[in-house]
Amino acid sequence: MLSKKVADSVNEQINKEMFSAYLYLAMSAKATDMGYAGIANWLMVQYHEEMFHAMKFYGHLVAIGAQVDLKPIAKPLTAETTIKAIFERVLEHEKGVTASIHALMDLSIAEKDYATQNLLRWYVDEQVEEEKNAVEILTNLKLLGDGLQGLFMLNIELGKRKASVPLDFTAVAAG
Ligand code: FEO
Repeated sequence: MLSKKVADSVNEQINKEMFSAYLYLAMSAKATDMGYAGIANWLMVQYHEEMFHAMKFYGHLVAIGAQVDLKPIAKPLTAETTIKAIFERVLEHEKGVTASIHALMDLSIAEKDYATQNLLRWYVDEQVEEEKNAVEILTNLKLLGDGLQGLFMLNIELGKRKASVPLDFTAVAAG
């Protein structure tokens, strides 16, 4: 059984992952508006990844018999007006999520919650990947240049991304 502290923090993290999904969905809509269908595709795939992250935590609560407590999801503000600014925001956002996963790991260790620690190891690895993806895109933008030609090529590249998570969460939500 999870301690109340850990259960509350996992519920908070579900909200953070859902907010991440919502943020990437808003960014995807923005990239579509700007005419970059490939970049919009990458951001939409990221939306699915974030929903999977949320539902994996949800499944953990279900498996362990703790209560799921869904909270309101804030409006995602996307003031960025360039593709470079969008991906700088992606990196900053992911660094924040990493800090939050690490804090949850610290709490699970303090609470001697071994099951949650095991689950969180998957998220620790996932955050390394998430930050690496954002850094790679920013590096590509630097190499290609963020002029029209560079963005055209990045758009083609990011248009190839496919979701690597299930899009039906029924099984993962069952714990
Ligand atoms: Fe679920 Fe992008 O962290």
